[in-house]
Amino acid sequence: MCGIVGYSGSRQAVEVLIDALKRLEYRGYDSAGIAVCGKELQVHKDKGEIAGLEETLPMLKGTVGISHTRWATCGRPSKNNAHPFVDCRGKFALVHNGIIENHIALRKELQARGHKFTSETDTEVLVHLLEENFKGDTHEALLESLKKVKGTYAVAVIRLGSKEVVAARKENPLVIGLGVGENFVASDVTALLNYTNNVLYMMDGESAVITPGSVKLFNESGGRVEREPTLVSWTVEDAEKGGFDHFMLKEIFEGPSAIHNTLLGNLNEIVTGDSIIDSNFSSVKIIACGSSYHAAMVGKYLIETISSIPTTLEFASEYRYSSGAKEMPLVILVSQSGETADTLAAAREARRRGCQTLAITNVVGSTITREVDEVFYTHAGPEICVAATKTYITQLMALYVLGMRIGHSHGALSHDALRLLRSELRSMPQYVREVLENAAAIEEATDMIVNARDVFFIGRNINYPTVLEGALKLKEISYIHAEGYAAGELKHGPLALLNPDMPVVAVCIRDHTYEKMLANLTEVAARDSPVLAIGYDDDTELSSVANRVIGIPKVKPIFTPVLIAVTLQLLAYYTARRKGCPIDKPRNLAKSVTVE
Ligand code: AGP
Repeated sequence: MCGIVGYSGSRQAVEVLIDALKRLEYRGYDSAGIAVCGKELQVHKDKGEIAGLEETLPMLKGTVGISHTRWATCGRPSKNNAHPFVDCRGKFALVHNGIIENHIALRKELQARGHKFTSETDTEVLVHLLEENFKGDTHEALLESLKKVKGTYAVAVIRLGSKEVVAARKENPLVIGLGVGENFVASDVTALLNYTNNVLYMMDGESAVITPGSVKLFNESGGRVEREPTLVSWTVEDAEKGGFDHFMLKEIFEGPSAIHNTLLGNLNEIVTGDSIIDSNFSSVKIIACGSSYHAAMVGKYLIETISSIPTTLEFASEYRYSSGAKEMPLVILVSQSGETADTLAAAREARRRGCQTLAITNVVGSTITREVDEVFYTHAGPEICVAATKTYITQLMALYVLGMRIGHSHGALSHDALRLLRSELRSMPQYVREVLENAAAIEEATDMIVNARDVFFIGRNINYPTVLEGALKLKEISYIHAEGYAAGELKHGPLALLNPDMPVVAVCIRDHTYEKMLANLTEVAARDSPVLAIGYDDDTELSSVANRVIGIPKVKPIFTPVLIAVTLQLLAYYTARRKGCPIDKPRNLAKSVTVE
């Protein structure tokens, strides 16, 4: 996720472009850049945050420009990979938010036609296509270029000698700000509130041409669109959270797009042939901390179920001190930040032991990417809230894909089975949307736990890690003591704790453990502990053994951890909000634990 701004008006563009861009820094902050049309196209960009760019900013004179703050998805954070990108003749500057899935093929074609590339990014192909397709009209050239692109984009372009800012969007947001003698375009309203609250939201497939005195909106087929402006009443802070009360809620609701962006480009490349996944290993070990460890636990079930390859788990903080059997597993390290000290130490230890290593991380260029042989990037975008939400479900996506790749490369997954799994994964964004649409019912269910001192979360098999994660979410943002437990283990001791004031959240999916789970719920109910069950939305039996039921869409059991995780994230969020907790920055915690 990146932030982009465009301006055309009577002010010096640089002031507007930097000020507006600062309000988008929560969307990405590993590099930034600006381009202003003057006597020539003036471009200044660098690795690091906007404040650093400001310190080295030369005098840029001109009243038309674009700016960009980056969250790297393709190409590590660096000056060369920072936006804007300029064509070979220095005529166009372009900024982009999104993922160009077919950038490798496009780059090869453009290089064969003599284009010289200066970055590792997917975005740069766009400015070279623009140069090729320009025949006098920037808007037409951009639309022609975008026809060749597979993927997602919000893009803004300026051309030397023109007062136009040309923009287009597909699956990434763009909004137009309407001023007097000036107009703006930006990734979201946050950037515009200092200048105007009169905006036009662009829809998917639309493009726009803005100048100081005009705004023209076009639909996908190039026809003009007339739309009433919206008067926005948000404060800047409201807008940063997209109108949500907290970043956590916003990031939970970004789950569908985070899943979509993570699968984009990864689901098709199941069979690559040149990955360590295709090498000859007989077991897998997954290492992580915290929520990432819970994702790793789900990963164990996925890899063993899909590929039959034995898979073990270790906490990163334990692995580095363990004896280390003589085995040489493929080691997968899971870390959304890529900076967790224990996980970094584990990566170095695994390499020292001679294991091949692969990291699943959400941050391009993070330290862990330099400590492993291969990286699988999730594309959840920046996660501001300390509690992991969208990054957790994108880690699960990564583990489904890796399970499929391991299964396929080890001959344990037929083409038909692979196709079925792919199709179910492609539907996950929609299934998560259905869970989000049930948010009101989940919020109501907080009646059962908001005043509890202790809560049990119980589950079995692939949803045992899910209940551990659900308990962690509740603990870390509502400060209610919660314990995730294997349901089959309750009778071996913890049952002694149950009482009418201790609610039990039970994951009860109609899979091979269903009957046993029903028996567990009966045991719990016999101790008068109130039961909140989570099961398929067509399960009519659950309400006879639970005080309240939250339903999820009926996906295959192997995919239920994703939907239940989102359900429990919302349950924890609404409980913490009812308790008036800070939520985004819980006491004593940090987003990335870079100390051991
Ligand atoms: C989860 O909500 C916590 N923020 C924490 O457990 C986190 O998952 C853990 O510190 C690991 O972080 P990482 O994924 O960045 O390595």
